[in-house]
Amino acid sequence: MSDPSTADVASMWDSVNPQHAHFRSHVYQEWWDMWVARHRAMIGSLGIEPETVLEWGIGGGANASLLPDTQYHGVDVSLRSLGEACRYPHVVVWLHDGDPRDTLAFVPEVGLFICTAVIQHMPSHADVELMLRAAYAKVRPGGRGLVQTRSLQTRKSSYAEGWQRWVCYSPDRAAALLRSVGWSICERRDVRPDYSYFLLAKPERANAVA
Ligand SMILES: C[S@@+](CC[C@H](N)C(=O)[O-])C[C@H]1O[C@@H](n2cnc3c(N)ncnc32)[C@H](O)[C@@H]1O
Repeated sequence: MSDPSTADVASMWDSVNPQHAHFRSHVYQEWWDMWVARHRAMIGSLGIEPETVLEWGIGGGANASLLPDTQYHGVDVSLRSLGEACRYPHVVVWLHDGDPRDTLAFVPEVGLFICTAVIQHMPSHADVELMLRAAYAKVRPGGRGLVQTRSLQTRKSSYAEGWQRWVCYSPDRAAALLRSVGWSICERRDVRPDYSYFLLAKPERANAVA
């Protein structure tokens, strides 16, 4: 079983039921309300009012809908997701199709980085690490982050079958990775046994580089 390419991942996300990419028109209202309420509370806990945001894997723009007064940069592999996220006038979209440092080359420094419900769908652990380092480099010193990971790996024979938990981390392994990138972990919230959120801060004097 080999890891998919970014193009393979993009192709899957362009064709899967849009509910999986959290398009508002394709999810139940109760689910949408639960999702945005959870993320609103977590972003509120970060204690900042960012002017600029970077989200990796913006999907249908659920997180973007929470921060309408920001300049919101949304990355995705799926053109369909980017088209959906563009419905929000404050969103600027960026297509990821290779090296994350290239994808982010023209994204300005941001005050907040968000990556929720994406890492488990990425092609490999190596890709996740590259992405986290590239994104961290875009966060201003003192900026914040909200990252979610999933554990309990159940890899199947192909990405088409196993995409829901393709790249998983135990919470401790995820925490170690985030620290190695340079983040300080303010808080970890395990909302389910296999679903962890990390509330993050970039030190004023950054201690890692991409
Ligand atoms: C489940 S949705 C999450 C959307 C949003 N982050 C949220 O929390 O509602 C996953 C999104 O990640 C995108 N995605 C999957 N793999 C990706 C990758 N390697 N890089 C960037 N985006 C990716 C998919 O196209 C999809 O739009």
